Amino acid sequence: MDLLESCPLFLLTSIVLAVLLQLGSGIPHVAGSEHGRNETDRLGLLAFKAEITSDPFGSLNSWNQSLHFCQWTGVTCGRRHQRVIVLNLDDRKLAGPISPHVGNLSFLRKLKLGNNSLSHEIPQEIGRLKRLQILLLHQNSFTGEIPANISGCLDLTAINFSRNSLGGKIPVELGSLSKLKYLLIDTNNLTGSVPPTLGNLSSLIIFVAEINNISGSIPDVLGGLTNLEGLGLGQNRLVGTIPLSIFNLSSLRSFNMIWNQLQGSLPSSLGNTLPNLEEFSIGRNLFTGCIPDSLSNASKLVRLEMGSNKFTGKIPSLEKLYDLLQLSLPNNYLGVGEAGDLDFLSSLTNATYLSYMDVRTNNLGGMLTESIGNLSSYLSELLLADNKISGIIPPSMRKLVNLQRILLFSNQFTGNIPIDLWNLQKLNIVSIRDNRLFGNIPSSLENLTLLYALYLDENNFHGSIPPSLGKCHRLESLSFGINNLSGTIPQELATLSSLLFMNLSQNQLSGSVPLEVGNLKNLEALDLSENMLSGQIPSTLGSCVKLTFLYMEGNLFWGSLPSSLRDLRGFEVIDLSRNRFSGKIPDYFEGFVFLRKLNLSFNDFEGAVPERGLFKVATGVSMEGNDKLCGGIPELQLHSCNSEGLRRNRFTFSLKVIVATIVGLLGLILVLFFLYLYWFKKTKKASSFRVFGNSFMKLSYQSLLKATDGFSQDNLLGIGGFGSVYKGILDQGDRVVAVKVLNLQFRGASKSFIAECNALKSIRHRNLVKVLTACSSVDCNGNDFKALVYEFMVNGSLEKWLHPNENENEVSEDSRSLSFLERLNIAIDVACALDYLHHYGPEPIVHCDLKPGNILLDDELTGHVGDFGIARFLPTVTYESGNQSSSIGVKGSIGYAAPEYGMGSEVSTSGDVYSYGILLLEMFTGKRPTDHMFSDSLNLHNFAKMAFSEQVASIADSTLFQQKKIIYSSRPYKTH
Ligand SMILES: *[C@@H]1O[C@H](CO)[C@@H](O)[C@H](O)[C@H]1NC(C)=O
Ligand SMILES: *[C@@H]1O[C@H](CO)[C@@H](O)[C@H](O)[C@H]1NC(C)=O
Ligand SMILES: *[C@@H]1O[C@H](CO)[C@@H](O)[C@H](O)[C@H]1NC(C)=O
Repeated sequence: MDLLESCPLFLLTSIVLAVLLQLGSGIPHVAGSEHGRNETDRLGLLAFKAEITSDPFGSLNSWNQSLHFCQWTGVTCGRRHQRVIVLNLDDRKLAGPISPHVGNLSFLRKLKLGNNSLSHEIPQEIGRLKRLQILLLHQNSFTGEIPANISGCLDLTAINFSRNSLGGKIPVELGSLSKLKYLLIDTNNLTGSVPPTLGNLSSLIIFVAEINNISGSIPDVLGGLTNLEGLGLGQNRLVGTIPLSIFNLSSLRSFNMIWNQLQGSLPSSLGNTLPNLEEFSIGRNLFTGCIPDSLSNASKLVRLEMGSNKFTGKIPSLEKLYDLLQLSLPNNYLGVGEAGDLDFLSSLTNATYLSYMDVRTNNLGGMLTESIGNLSSYLSELLLADNKISGIIPPSMRKLVNLQRILLFSNQFTGNIPIDLWNLQKLNIVSIRDNRLFGNIPSSLENLTLLYALYLDENNFHGSIPPSLGKCHRLESLSFGINNLSGTIPQELATLSSLLFMNLSQNQLSGSVPLEVGNLKNLEALDLSENMLSGQIPSTLGSCVKLTFLYMEGNLFWGSLPSSLRDLRGFEVIDLSRNRFSGKIPDYFEGFVFLRKLNLSFNDFEGAVPERGLFKVATGVSMEGNDKLCGGIPELQLHSCNSEGLRRNRFTFSLKVIVATIVGLLGLILVLFFLYLYWFKKTKKASSFRVFGNSFMKLSYQSLLKATDGFSQDNLLGIGGFGSVYKGILDQGDRVVAVKVLNLQFRGASKSFIAECNALKSIRHRNLVKVLTACSSVDCNGNDFKALVYEFMVNGSLEKWLHPNENENEVSEDSRSLSFLERLNIAIDVACALDYLHHYGPEPIVHCDLKPGNILLDDELTGHVGDFGIARFLPTVTYESGNQSSSIGVKGSIGYAAPEYGMGSEVSTSGDVYSYGILLLEMFTGKRPTDHMFSDSLNLHNFAKMAFSEQVASIADSTLFQQKKIIYSSRPYKTH
């Protein structure tokens, strides 16, 4: 089971299981016995125990004098000679290094220590275990290199070093292990190339080295491994072509080369020479040419993944692939844009279990036929978006009762959406945006109780918005923009408290905004622009506390802006232009610190323009076409507000209102009417989307892939607890972001994602790293993909600034150190952030992992606290302290976590305060709490205490005294 557990290949599990059963059967007998030498084993085991620093389950408690060592937990001895032949301590949460003394257990056949927290190097002494057959050290924290001398263990049949932090090259010496059947070294940090000596491993069945940094090309000689069933080299840096000899390994069942830079085309006989293939994954490479027709002969295929390459030509018939579950061919140049391109769909009707079909972003033309309804009823994802498919959406799709996600956007579909489609009750994401569909939006939508994203924009839908939409209680994104919808906004829509994003722009909606809008407590973006809506902004809008983007331009709204908007301090963009708003420009806009665009032009605002906040700079604010405004900064070139002028204005004001109301209303309605009829219709397709206007599409996996240049190493900013952080440039090119990609293979990463999303969703403060959005999707490989997108912090982490010598390669030439004042300012920033988290947020939040690495500095060296991966909400989490003592790691980092956490005590705000204290000491002494100089009795805390107060200068960070450069601080000393 142990090999199996960490085996990353999709199908290898069954293979490995089968052979492991074989391996495990019967413990070998050893002829003869060696008297007297059994003491060696006892001592070796005790030495092993002595190095273990943590044994939370007490697995080694039985390892004591009162019991014979052959009865100790995890130990198996040979029946006659009483020597240790198996040491099996898988899954015990043991921590610490492996004692070199295991090298003395000279009869050991199986050493199984997978899935623990063992660390340091793998001891060389293992090479002395000449009888060793099985060596499983996967899923630990081993560092250093793979010891080359394990090549002396000539009986080895299985090696599993997966999921550690091993570096260096794959030792060429491994080529001498002629009995080796399993070699699993994936998910480490191995470099160098695949040594050709591995071609000598004639017994090899499985070779998995994916997710490393292996470079070079794939050696030809691997084609000689005629027993090979699984070959996994995905997610490395391999170049060149795949040697033809490998395509002749008829035993191959699983072949995974995704995400390398491999090129060339596939041999036309592929399906004939690899008849046993179950997985064929070569996505995200540079392959060219056609998909061979013979592929259908590889009739055992379960998973076919060839996305993001440069394949051309027709997708061949796949009629013999009865077992196919997943077909993934997106981002290629498949199809010729004509009828016939979709013939492969009808060839799949016998693939009874097909559940995933992705051919997005190709060149596929022709029409979908009714035969689509004959696809497997297990189909849950049908992704045909971004092709040239025309014709109607076939009603037979109603038979695909398990569909959850339908993406048909950016094609040329026409006609009505078949009414039956809305009876597919499992649907949760539907995007049919950017087609040529028309007709009404049917009220039967209400059956879709699981729906959370519905995109119908950029079509020709007409009629009114069905009130029954109010029954889709999970709806988060609703986008009906750029259609011909008319009527009013149904108040039922405003009962969807789950809604995050609503776009009704560029339709012909009339009436006012329903008062119930205040129920949309989660609403972040509301776009009602370019309609014929009227009335005042309801003061209830002030209850939409998360509102960030508000577009209401190009309507007939009037009245003054409600004071209740004062509380919506998260606003980034507000566009109210081209309406009939009047009254003063409220001065609460000055306090909206995130506001970067405020468009009030072509309204009837009057009086003095505020001068602080966003109004301090001329960019970002538009106010033209408001003749009664005065004051403001000189750049606005408004007349000054002397009181006389104002009074005169007031006098004529009521007159103007009457004239304006009559002329304005009549005139405007006419003008708008013509505008809609002619202008907008024509420019429809050209209108650009907004930052948030299409969040689901914009921050898909693909767009993040593009933003980070394919998650390239050049953009890698760092690797953290649960994933990697990349620098990315979003499509528009004007926004640099940091993208944290969760490594979902690590246990807890998914949980960390949810913790972080929950924490960040509800909080906002200038000293917290701002999360722009989250992306939860499926990557080209069909795996879950989760990422968080943050504002990019130019100056990196505080850690880098405090300890520049340890990060030499990361620091620019300008590696100056922080001045006293800068450090003080950052310390104040962090204190403000903590104060907010603990006292002012919607709920008290404990950060749990405050340390310099989690404090990021922007271009002004302002501190922002980030990484909420293990944050806790106090009221919602009740702790059972009994079983928590074992998971110290979960509550922070060594050195910074409060000592009581180590004893299983509850998470509390005081814990953060402790970490903050340590942080302060580190910032001003330049010493890490984990510095070598601190041992049992001396720690950073009492080190500082001893020096206080006479000798403070002696412990202060010496760089504070050698500031040669001009003290740089763009900010004044803070007083808050
Ligand atoms: C060592 O082996 C002898 C004979 O096989 C046996 O009597 C003795 O109990 C063993 N000692 C230990 C510690 O196992
Ligand atoms: C991986 O190895 C490279 C080169 O040896 C090194 O620069 C990098 O820091 C390592 N990464 C990790 C996560 O250990
Ligand atoms: C599916 O299987 C049936 C019965 O075996 C066969 O008649 C039919 O031609 C097959 N369809 C396709 C598309 O291969």
